[in-house]
Amino acid sequence: MDTPVDVTTTAAWAGLAELATSLQPDLRGWFADDPERAARWTLDVADLHVDLSKNLLTAEVLEALVALGREVGLEQRRDAMLRGDRINVTEDRAVLHTALRRAEGDSLVVDGQDVVAQVHAELAKVYAFAEKVRSGEWTGVTGKRIETVVNIGIGGSDLGPVMAYEALKPYVQDGLECRFISNIDPTDTGETVADLDPETTLVIVASKTFGTLETLTNARLVRTWLLDTLRERGVESEDTVARHFVAVSTALDKVADFGIDPDNAFGFWDWVGGRYSVDSAIGTSLAVAIGREGFAELLAGFRAVDEHFAGTPLEQNVPALMGLLNCFYVNHLGAESHAVLPYAQYLHRFPAYLQQLTMESNGKGVRWDGSPVATGTGEVFWGEPGTNGQHAFYQLIHQGTRLIPADFIAFAQTAHPLRDGDADVHELLLANFFAQTAALAFGKTEEEVRAEGTDEAVVPARVFTGNRPTTSIMAPALTPSVLGQLIALYEHITFTQGVVWGIDSFDQWGVELGKKLAQDLTPAVAGDEDALAAADASTRGLIEWYRGKRA
Ligand code: F6P
Repeated sequence: MDTPVDVTTTAAWAGLAELATSLQPDLRGWFADDPERAARWTLDVADLHVDLSKNLLTAEVLEALVALGREVGLEQRRDAMLRGDRINVTEDRAVLHTALRRAEGDSLVVDGQDVVAQVHAELAKVYAFAEKVRSGEWTGVTGKRIETVVNIGIGGSDLGPVMAYEALKPYVQDGLECRFISNIDPTDTGETVADLDPETTLVIVASKTFGTLETLTNARLVRTWLLDTLRERGVESEDTVARHFVAVSTALDKVADFGIDPDNAFGFWDWVGGRYSVDSAIGTSLAVAIGREGFAELLAGFRAVDEHFAGTPLEQNVPALMGLLNCFYVNHLGAESHAVLPYAQYLHRFPAYLQQLTMESNGKGVRWDGSPVATGTGEVFWGEPGTNGQHAFYQLIHQGTRLIPADFIAFAQTAHPLRDGDADVHELLLANFFAQTAALAFGKTEEEVRAEGTDEAVVPARVFTGNRPTTSIMAPALTPSVLGQLIALYEHITFTQGVVWGIDSFDQWGVELGKKLAQDLTPAVAGDEDALAAADASTRGLIEWYRGKRA
């Protein structure tokens, strides 16, 4: 195992620390003094038009960030990931989500297997299945065509598919709907199936491990609902499960144990992390919804950004620069969170998706060799679509005491070109997008507030300091390709930050303890006195309170 570079020992780190101390953010002055600033720091990647100029970036900071990337070996680690080295060291696995979108005919041999050929063989199965459902050739047990696909999964087996399905709604075939069940709260399954017709419902059980409590429990619940409801209608057939359940997993033996025919299962590989898996067979519900063409376009979008990340010098490499900048904000300017603000209703699940991608990847306190990190890591990612956020939490971003770097995302075209009288409503949305980033950057001075005749007593409350950093990401439209580009952009930003911090961004040991304790406490909750006695006093008290109140 190679030892991660301790980033705090690098010359670039020392340089950045010094630059941060002397930095006097002045976006007004910086733009006034440098007419080229916006053009210089606006970079295009495939269809993404990324304006970094409203960040707290100076030429010296940029130079030091690039040097930092080089000193921690970002390019070497990127290349190691792309060629299939086992960089997920705590799980001893390669990290090859980028192989999921390599072009057909490419080749990447890892451990004697051509992984790109494997990917395309599996994709062909997913596409053939999707086509059968879309054309009506695949029917339920009573011969009716499928109208609803229910994806049962959690974490990466849910967030990617649901986010992408919501994002690409205009591309979904008429007459088809996808629903998603993830939570072990029985409300999720109860509400989702309440108005469904089992005869026209197809269930995809999506689980990398096929051992996740929530997913298997929900899959059993839905199987029971489906079989019982059909039985009430006089339909009983040994084909029912085969006609209504398919699975996606890396553990195809467990799929068979569940009762799903392995012929109706789609596989992927342990070198795809759950949160990096939407473009594998985990995206089968999406492939059904948007079809082969749409899914292939999504993959092409990912690939375009992968190629940029793989082949562009750090000075122009957008994901690398964004990741390095995020580290600067976290490690040198004290940022603890990062907002992602899509001005696109269809991206309403994108912040939630990014929370798993970024925080499960980089929320770590030890480096990949087990040594403790010497810096802050994993900032909190959060967000909501604009303009809703403007009327909720933007106050804190504009005038609060915390530095919250924010990414604003918007599209030139809308799927809903509605007008309100003379006003193009999409343009009203975009005007807000442009206005917010300008307000955050340039603020409003005391003099400007006074010049409006403001009562002196409220002048301080109405001042905006500005210098609140944002990145604007625009694209022509939210197409499958552009969505793939956006996801790949954030995957590589996350990777870059992980390399700077020397952490393994591909394991998730932090979710294990809670899972194990829940298992141990389940008998106590159900009434087992010995299990209850083993619990700590607080937990015991809570369980006893619950037991006294349960219906
Ligand atoms: O518990 C966390 C986690 O392992 C995630 O990393 C993963 O995406 C999710 O659970 C679901 O896991 P699986 O796909 O194996 O059911």
